[in-house]
Amino acid sequence: MSMQMHGHPGANVAARSPYSGFVRKRPDWLDEGVDADLAARLRADLLATRYTVDRLLQLWGDDADAALARGDRVPARRALRGSSDPAARLARLLLLGEAAGAAGDAGVDSADSTVDAALEAALPTLGAAGARALGLIDAEGRASLDLRPSAAIDAAGPVDWLIASDLGETALGGPLPPEHVLGVGGASITLSGLIPTSPVGSVLDLGTGCGIQALHAARHATRVVATDLSARALELAALTLALNGVTSVELRRGDLYAPVAGERFDRIISNPPFVITPRVEGVPVYEYRDGGRVGDALVEEVIRGAAAHLVPGGTAHLLANWEYRDAMAGDGLARVRRWAAEAGLEAWVVERERQTPAQYAATWIRDGGTRIGTPEYERLAEAWLDDFAARGVTAVGFGYVLLRRPAGGAGPTAPTAPRLLRAEVLGSPLGAGSSGIGDHLLACLAAHDRIAALDDAALAALRLTVAPDVTEERHYWPGDEGPTVIRLRQGGGFARTVDADAALAGLVGACDGDLPVGTIASALADLLEVDEGALRAQLLPQVRELVLTGFLLPGD
Ligand SMILES: C[S@@+](CC[C@H](N)C(=O)[O-])C[C@H]1O[C@@H](n2cnc3c(N)ncnc32)[C@H](O)[C@@H]1O
Repeated sequence: MSMQMHGHPGANVAARSPYSGFVRKRPDWLDEGVDADLAARLRADLLATRYTVDRLLQLWGDDADAALARGDRVPARRALRGSSDPAARLARLLLLGEAAGAAGDAGVDSADSTVDAALEAALPTLGAAGARALGLIDAEGRASLDLRPSAAIDAAGPVDWLIASDLGETALGGPLPPEHVLGVGGASITLSGLIPTSPVGSVLDLGTGCGIQALHAARHATRVVATDLSARALELAALTLALNGVTSVELRRGDLYAPVAGERFDRIISNPPFVITPRVEGVPVYEYRDGGRVGDALVEEVIRGAAAHLVPGGTAHLLANWEYRDAMAGDGLARVRRWAAEAGLEAWVVERERQTPAQYAATWIRDGGTRIGTPEYERLAEAWLDDFAARGVTAVGFGYVLLRRPAGGAGPTAPTAPRLLRAEVLGSPLGAGSSGIGDHLLACLAAHDRIAALDDAALAALRLTVAPDVTEERHYWPGDEGPTVIRLRQGGGFARTVDADAALAGLVGACDGDLPVGTIASALADLLEVDEGALRAQLLPQVRELVLTGFLLPGD
């Protein structure tokens, strides 16, 4: 089943409001836990007002929604001005960053347009005192954090969530503070799509941030442990979970796997703080993206560490960065594959993008809110390029890592079943249902298990079926009878394309589950008047690849 995310109103966008940290206001919050009564009252208000992605989209329209996603809140603010809809009032306060009781707050007449009266009107169950006690509103009546709806659809159906995170750059009017807790961003949505939706016992969400992946995981798992190094992230995750009535997630604080020492999980999910940052004075360290290691050592640690925290057969689903280093130190994808192999894990690594050191430095310096061309930018870019030069880094790859602890266990004593260690570059856009990649990859793993141990004779005896999302394209020179190009195209998954000759296209076309592959190959050799042995030697490795990548289904 595919999972499809369908909406997050913009990035973290809110008003010009001084950064006022929850942590400073409520230092013991984590130990005490979120105030359940206040959170329940806030939840009641948000549910009663239909503070959902669909409702806000109806209120402000597609154009304003797209502007919000670019960090521009003006069109949404204009669309909601004067609206008496309770969801509009909440969006102005909690998402667009206007002060409670600001001009144009319909439903609050001038006589009671004080901050408290406006808060009572917007949040009747929580009330003004409750909003302050929860740390939601600052002294000026502005939101101290970003609270927005988020929507998703997965195998369990559609869901509307409420996500608490820190105010973004627009709200702060400048660069983010180092302890900033991210809301739901592009990378979060990518990872959500990588998480399988099959039911599972236990899940570890490593680096939970605002808690978005834990919410996804809780839909399919009996038990979720979500960790983070940042106390503030855990506070916001606790609020997120409480606002969504989710009680099956346990929050723990600590560095990487330290909070789960000695524990194993069926599934690990992580959008880890993988951003490569120079370790020199004067370069800001953003906790939300930077786990405090040199180069890509954090990714290496997360990958190697998974072996000790997965049950046999358990899988890990990660986003990551990897460095390509000079000729001596090696190719980036090969390094990732080696980390997994040395830990006794199977791996499927997909590189989606590769940047030069200069592009990488620009991406992450700008992400921190520093504009290109400024003296500060140039100082930071020098530091980034020095850091890359020191390790001979020539490029940085971005992508997905799927790991599996072999069913027989990990490590040197594990049985020697054929293990999957695949690394590939796939830069093209994903297929339809692109956010259901996690389920697609698990199906590919199952296909691997089905065929990895088969020799060619056993493979030739399989009766295969073409996957329902596979189509064939044929291109002809004008006037020619035969095609010059035949291409097999996958509609879902990674939307792979495979160039085929007449024999491969004929074989795939004949795979309806009726005849064994070997019988089809023999018939094709006759038809095409070619040597049967040579044709089988060509086709069987191609069939293996098509089964592994989901074009051909092996059945049970
Ligand atoms: C990129 S954010 C991911 C947030 C969220 N899971 C998502 O998908 O949107 C990485 C998270 O890792 C946390 N983090 C940073 N360094 C860490 C460390 N050494 N150990 C554990 N978590 C860390 C950050 O606080 C942040 O919340």
